[in-house]
Amino acid sequence: MYTKIQETASWLRERMTTSPKTAIILGTGLGQLASEITDTYEFPYEQIPNFPVSTVEGHAGKLIFGKLGGKDIMAMEGRFHFYEGYSMKEVTFPERVMYELGIRTLFVSNAAGGMNPKFKIGDLMIINDHINFFPEHPLRGKNCPPGPRFPDMHEAYDHELIALADKIAEEKGISVQHGVYVGVQGPTFETPAEYRMYRLLGGDAVGMSTVPEVIVARHCGIKVFGVSIITDLGGFDTPVEVSHEEVQKAANAAQPVMTEIMREIIRRS
Ligand code: HPA
Repeated sequence: MYTKIQETASWLRERMTTSPKTAIILGTGLGQLASEITDTYEFPYEQIPNFPVSTVEGHAGKLIFGKLGGKDIMAMEGRFHFYEGYSMKEVTFPERVMYELGIRTLFVSNAAGGMNPKFKIGDLMIINDHINFFPEHPLRGKNCPPGPRFPDMHEAYDHELIALADKIAEEKGISVQHGVYVGVQGPTFETPAEYRMYRLLGGDAVGMSTVPEVIVARHCGIKVFGVSIITDLGGFDTPVEVSHEEVQKAANAAQPVMTEIMREIIRRS
């Protein structure tokens, strides 16, 4: 595993003309931020040795390098989901490579189902914390350097970056929500009873990604900032249908606000 990480990082390093310390993972329907990156050069996942290849509709599948908010950044357009059949090591392989390349701050975004009754479709939720509901832990097995065997998770989402995001949102008159993201395997959306259960357990939003990536990033000591775009509401009082198309549409509509906040945090952090 460690050899593969090194191999992929060397392959990229030989081709990189910038030295980003910041990476962004773009979630479902949130690829627009990529078009704001300037001075770009990119690598489709299928060209990168050892990289899994993304399969889901709405996930393009490439690494984009360039500038955003005046900083060198690296962006993943398309991520690897556990429900696609990848192992947890594959799902989180890019974060290991990021660390080797010198990434020290990671911005993650996702589309999620809202369970907090105060949420509306299109809301941007800053992730304060998460609950890991995946059936397999990404750190299961032999411990991978550089992280400890039993990593601390008391501040999975960096408090300073959250405070900075709040300040920026206030300055720009953007209203944001805060909450706990519940990470689940999928690929089914939740039944009304499941939404109700995740809400009872302390969740504000639920989605099928992010948690494994954040755990591995934190294991490497990478700081994390995360946002969820609320694309549907877990209608546990009046059950409503959810579809992937609807999720993509709602995420698309919320992109400009997310881009603005992300760009400004990157500029100021
Ligand atoms: N549940 C799980 N994953 C999701 C949802 C949802 O309601 N919306 C977008 N991704």
